[in-house]
Amino acid sequence: MGDEQQATTTAGDDSALRARVEELLAGMTLAEKAGQLTQYFYFRLPEGAEAEPALGLDPSAQPRMVEAALGRGEVGSLLFVTDPAEVNRLQRLAVEGNRQGIPAIFGFDVIHGLRTIFPVPIAMAASWDPATIEAGQAVAAREARAVGIHWTFAPMVDVARDPRWGRIIEGAGEDPYLGAAVAAAQVRGFQGPALGSAERVVAGPKHFAGYGYALGGRDYDEVNLSDSELWNVVLPPFAAAVEAGAGNVMTAYMDLNGIPATGNRWLFDDVLRQALDFQGFVVSDANAVRSLATHGFAEDLTEAGARALAVGVDLEMAIADPAYAHLPEAVAQGRVTEEALDVSVRRVLAAKLRLGLFDEPYVDEDRAREVLADPAHRDVARTAAQRAAVLLRNEGGLLPLDPSALGSLAVLGPLADSRRDTLGPWVFDFDLDETVTVLDGIRAAVGDTLDVRHTPGIRPALRTFPSMFDMFGGNAPEEPEGFDDEAELARAVELAAGADVAVVVLGEWQNMIGEAASTSTLALPGAQQELLEAVVATGTPVVLLVMNGRPLDLRWAAEHVPAVLDIWYPGSQGGAAVADLLLGRVSPGGRLPFTWPRTVGQVPLVYSHTTSHEPQNQGRRYWDEASTPLFPFGHGLSYSSFAYADLQVDRETLTTTGGLTLDGSVMVTVQVTNTGGREADEVVQLYVHQRSGTASRPVRELKGFERVTLAAGESRTVRFPLGAAQLRYWNAAVRDWVVDAATFDVWVGGSSTADLGTTFSVVRGG
Ligand code: BGC
Repeated sequence: MGDEQQATTTAGDDSALRARVEELLAGMTLAEKAGQLTQYFYFRLPEGAEAEPALGLDPSAQPRMVEAALGRGEVGSLLFVTDPAEVNRLQRLAVEGNRQGIPAIFGFDVIHGLRTIFPVPIAMAASWDPATIEAGQAVAAREARAVGIHWTFAPMVDVARDPRWGRIIEGAGEDPYLGAAVAAAQVRGFQGPALGSAERVVAGPKHFAGYGYALGGRDYDEVNLSDSELWNVVLPPFAAAVEAGAGNVMTAYMDLNGIPATGNRWLFDDVLRQALDFQGFVVSDANAVRSLATHGFAEDLTEAGARALAVGVDLEMAIADPAYAHLPEAVAQGRVTEEALDVSVRRVLAAKLRLGLFDEPYVDEDRAREVLADPAHRDVARTAAQRAAVLLRNEGGLLPLDPSALGSLAVLGPLADSRRDTLGPWVFDFDLDETVTVLDGIRAAVGDTLDVRHTPGIRPALRTFPSMFDMFGGNAPEEPEGFDDEAELARAVELAAGADVAVVVLGEWQNMIGEAASTSTLALPGAQQELLEAVVATGTPVVLLVMNGRPLDLRWAAEHVPAVLDIWYPGSQGGAAVADLLLGRVSPGGRLPFTWPRTVGQVPLVYSHTTSHEPQNQGRRYWDEASTPLFPFGHGLSYSSFAYADLQVDRETLTTTGGLTLDGSVMVTVQVTNTGGREADEVVQLYVHQRSGTASRPVRELKGFERVTLAAGESRTVRFPLGAAQLRYWNAAVRDWVVDAATFDVWVGGSSTADLGTTFSVVRGG
């Protein structure tokens, strides 16, 4: 990984840095200050591409407009440039255009890799493995920094409890505890030991706050969030990211409890700066400052800019015509003070200095090429894809496949050999030539020992409404020419019938999930269900590989398909990893980071609900369908098996003397044994339930986990501490954190249905 984690000389030296900031600030005009607070997209769309109308963007005029602003020294930051030569050219315009030579900070959505594409974030979360997650984002940071990107708009730490929302794929799922661990690991991976570490980038957790709760799962729609849900569920991953040192936070698009999140003083002052103690800079989501006027909150752009700045949005991300260009006018009209601009300019300049941009604004283009091609990055991606996969079902031990016992394999389905879909959404700088599809991976793994036949069986399903990412090209699947639906399906059936095992790859096309990709159904799009049923009807054993970023309606598959492996969108090396899993070179060990509903009508469905009236009927809340999950949170099978025993607490009681003070913590220990015949991973999960108190508490909450690798027959004692940090919660009645005196149930096991339990109590003392 090259020079390991060398912080630059500017990183620790705060007083020198502050002095330099003041010196720069003193030399700036109001327009230059407003410019430092403006971040522009720089779009070069492919030849003939049409810009998404909603962006209000003229693709040919936009770059010219940005270059003119660079020439005036009025651009603080750019985004969406990934070519190092372009970065250098634009950086030169910034440095030479600015009277004090202030470089631009380049940001980009490095979400799950830049050139080496990792499994999508929800998949990385499904690894339940912070080390894998950190390693992945360190690779992403290294590639990004090599091409001249200094800052990523990631991780997305929005808790998502409604899978209709397409951006569930960008986060860590439904749980705040898992979400916090994943958020912190990503920040560590992106930033390294300190802001300004070599080969790392600034991390920007987003979207502050509550964006995952869009009404009806409709992206951008309003969010109405209870106080309890905000503090106990939504904020913990942000708190963890900030505590891990995140240098940036991004605002959210939507209204939160009736006020646009980007104009909400309480959110930024009281919560982010005070409660979470965030020290970095805040960027708006794209055009979100302008949107304050669109929302009917600010009367015009000048007011939108003034109000966003006043609540602490330091930098405006803009496509064109930024509201912050009106800041000098807003100061002149007394709508905002110049001091308010100064506060934000200081934060932006401090970030640039910490990153060493003044010393080295340019990148080495040859080195960038080398870094992007580093084969070690592909190895990390392959391991990540192996660790992310979740084995949902494996009746009769159909998996792993033993190639020596098979003669032929049918690899079917429209996603089996689709490079673009294998990568998933939110990637831009990928290389399709090096992308390994499931078919490629299987073929490479079995060589000519097995006869592998493939056909998609059905045509791709298309979105009803196009995606805004279509403008970048190659996003929507192409309609195949002269496709004969009946003949193609018949061919798939024939291949399945003639094979020893059929591997069917189904899910959502990658353009159906991500931003502005919400759905009203969880059904498999297009004719996929028909294909699956036809293949199963041949009697050939079927392995279903699900390519997805949200739960899909697999009710039929969960009854009729013996083996179901969730491979997510597994990334550049996805097919290689999938072959490793199918053939048993590694055992699946990923776990669901969300509750998998049976049907869309159940959502939102979470494991950590409270106990309510008639809890005995919790599974029968609908007259037509069980209200239980299809697969529970934390579920995932293995090629081995595990037994849990000897669950103990090292003390029966903790004493509270009021507030959040406890006289120590309880150590929970459990012995986990690999009772199967092969090495495999188990994710040991600890859940807690508070039996009584000053609020109703969830039936279970995750409060500890550890992914362990155990050899056949090996046992290990796993320990989890439980203290005030795990037992406290935000109480909406007193509007503060509390630790109640109560009895607590503890369960440890391999999913949220773990039944090995014990108890301890918190008692009042002193
Ligand atoms: C998204 C952000 C993203 C930004 C820049 C917005 O539409 O909401 O998450 O970072 O675009 O691409």
